[in-house]
Amino acid sequence: MPLTNVQARDVETILHPYTNLAQHRESGPVVIERGEGVHVWDAQGRKLIEGLSGLWCTSLGYNCEELVEAATAQMRRLPFAHLFGSRSHDPAVALAEKLKEISPCPASKVFFANSGSEANDTQIKLIWYMNNALGRPKKKKIISRIGAYHGVTIASASLTGLAANHADFDLPIPGFLHTGRPHYYRDAQPGETEAEFSTRLAQDLDQLIQREGPETVAAFIAEPIMGAGGVILPPETYFAKIQAVLAKYDIYFIADEVICGFGRTGNMFGSQTFGLSPDSISVAKALSSAYAPISAIMIPEEMYQAALEESRKIGTFGHGFTYSGHPVSCAVALKTLEIYERDDIIGHVRAVSPAFTSRLAALGDHPLVGQARGIGLIGGLELVADKGQRRSFPASLGLAAKCAALALDEGLMIRALGGDVLALCPPLVINEDEIGQMFDAVERTLERAEAWVAKDGLRNA
Ligand SMILES: Cc1ncc(COP(=O)(O)O)c(C=O)c1O
Repeated sequence: MPLTNVQARDVETILHPYTNLAQHRESGPVVIERGEGVHVWDAQGRKLIEGLSGLWCTSLGYNCEELVEAATAQMRRLPFAHLFGSRSHDPAVALAEKLKEISPCPASKVFFANSGSEANDTQIKLIWYMNNALGRPKKKKIISRIGAYHGVTIASASLTGLAANHADFDLPIPGFLHTGRPHYYRDAQPGETEAEFSTRLAQDLDQLIQREGPETVAAFIAEPIMGAGGVILPPETYFAKIQAVLAKYDIYFIADEVICGFGRTGNMFGSQTFGLSPDSISVAKALSSAYAPISAIMIPEEMYQAALEESRKIGTFGHGFTYSGHPVSCAVALKTLEIYERDDIIGHVRAVSPAFTSRLAALGDHPLVGQARGIGLIGGLELVADKGQRRSFPASLGLAAKCAALALDEGLMIRALGGDVLALCPPLVINEDEIGQMFDAVERTLERAEAWVAKDGLRNA
């Protein structure tokens, strides 16, 4: 099909994030025009359920008037103020207070940034800063996991454990290490139980620390559920065993709650769902229901004291973004948190989650689905050519991407992840009927994909 006017202009003007740029020149973009509730409409007039909440973020859906009002009121009162050089404003103070109150880790102070990547970058800088202040200049290495997603800035992309984020970007930078991912379905050995698999991963981590020298390892970072890496839920006993290793070597634990934070897993934080006791956390996305860019990290007293000492010595705490604690973003985030509480969003997630997880689990019987996994309102379908052998389709076939394209014609936006995983993460306000419609669309999509695979004999390609 020839490109429409806006598609043609897009192709000539925008360098698209996370896009096959060559293919994009041929197919052009899917142009989204408006949204309402859990739906968006594209330029072709298709009404689509936003099955991934944008990018795991539009938790309150697309027409939350109260958030629009909070933003406009703040823009009228004070559209910009910053926090540099001892300046402050009420929306930032009130939001920091609220975040401290609900934090799953003992939070002394809150630092604001604009994205998950900036939040995780700041985590790394603060750990280095702290260990310098504490007289441990060698304790600087950071351990992340293969398959992790922590962002794309130089440090956060180094934490990320996905090949496409490193290849030809000269990443990861030195001092960033990756240990095994907790992907039981893919990585467990034959006959190994979940608990045994977790023991093995904890032993691998222990050995990596031993090899590197515990005195050189500063921190470990983990998402409670690995999102972009394939919606990977931690197997039984995983975090308990990992945390025991970290405690043994005095290694700081960062939880990246950028996807799991604010109700996604059926608790306020994924750390609560999976028994994590992090030293600090990063949040973003659903913090403002994505209506305005904002992220935050919550840090412990020890880290604050170290920064205090350093700033006494150096003369300032030399870190911060122009838009750290932007008043409009803070006002929107405050209103978002107020709505979560007032409307008992977590109660809603718990109430509708069985409808979500039961339809998801039922898809595990589909011939193309190797594993259906999920909790709360987040799920993943791992597509395979052979269920018994867990054999994947060749990556070059791009089956999950093909499904995501087919889904558009079935009224659904869904995201294809590497490893042929289809991710589902609808707005938290979705109701049971809409969950039903979403899964009906997934089923129709899989039927069409199955017919395509069968017709072209692709299963054994
Ligand atoms: C767990 C996690 N951390 C960090 C990020 C990076 O966030 P951003 O894209 O806002 O930089 C993401 C983005 O998807 C994420 O899923």
